[in-house]
Amino acid sequence: MRRNAKETRSVIEYFEKESSLGTEFRRIYSNLKYYYSAQELKTLLITSPSLGEGKTTMASFLAIGIARWYGKNVVVLDCDLRKPSIHKFFDLNRDKGMTEILSGKNRYLDCIKPTSIENLTIVTSGAEVDFPTKLLESQTFKGLLAEIRPHYDIIIADCAPVIPVNDALILGTLLDGAIVVLKAGHSQREVAKRAVELLREAKVNLLGVVVNNMEDTFPYYYSYKYYGYDYSHQKKR
Ligand SMILES: Nc1ncnc2c1ncn2[C@@H]1O[C@H](COP(=O)(O)OP(=O)(O)O)[C@@H](O)[C@H]1O
Ligand SMILES: [Mg+2]
Repeated sequence: MRRNAKETRSVIEYFEKESSLGTEFRRIYSNLKYYYSAQELKTLLITSPSLGEGKTTMASFLAIGIARWYGKNVVVLDCDLRKPSIHKFFDLNRDKGMTEILSGKNRYLDCIKPTSIENLTIVTSGAEVDFPTKLLESQTFKGLLAEIRPHYDIIIADCAPVIPVNDALILGTLLDGAIVVLKAGHSQREVAKRAVELLREAKVNLLGVVVNNMEDTFPYYYSYKYYGYDYSHQKKR
């Protein structure tokens, strides 16, 4: 379904350095940098217990922030082969992406899609396939990660949620670390605990949990209304 003209703008346009959102994402990256060296933490999985908690939003904003403000070379791989939406966030075509690379139809280099941020590229999910898990657990995926690792500072993989399918656990063991996104007011405690348990049992390096405070849940903290003015219009020193 085609979204209306307003919605088709890429997420990049909404992200200002001085916004409270931007500040939060810089904080997340600073924390990661504090605890891990660049070599230890190159491949990063973004997941959550269930659907719609903000995985794709988190993966996109984190990638934009790291590329734009730290000048790092970043690629986002849309590994949510079941309900992909990275292509929607960046207003790209879904096709010619991960599934084509992993099934050997296309080479990686023919599938990377540039964005308006110089250091940020995207690999969309590609066409729908019948057995997504099979592609993700293949040797080809392992090989792909090894092949592209030297060429990036950070590789961010958006993926399916932990509870309904195994994809996140499989990917988690192949990547350097995982961030779990929870949606405040939505994620159930027991479900979140189970997801973390599953990741731990699978020996995934769990880096931390990010709480996605949807505007309606914690309006005071994130809303510009609370701060009284928009930081993006402050004079730079
Ligand atoms: N903090 C937020 N504030 C407002 N809307 C959000 C926020 N985080 C996510 N959304 C919206 O919620 C929906 C689900 O988020 P998404 O990142 O696609 O979740 P997931 O990838 O986990 O399924 C999307 O429409 C997204 O734009
Ligand atoms: Mg998603």
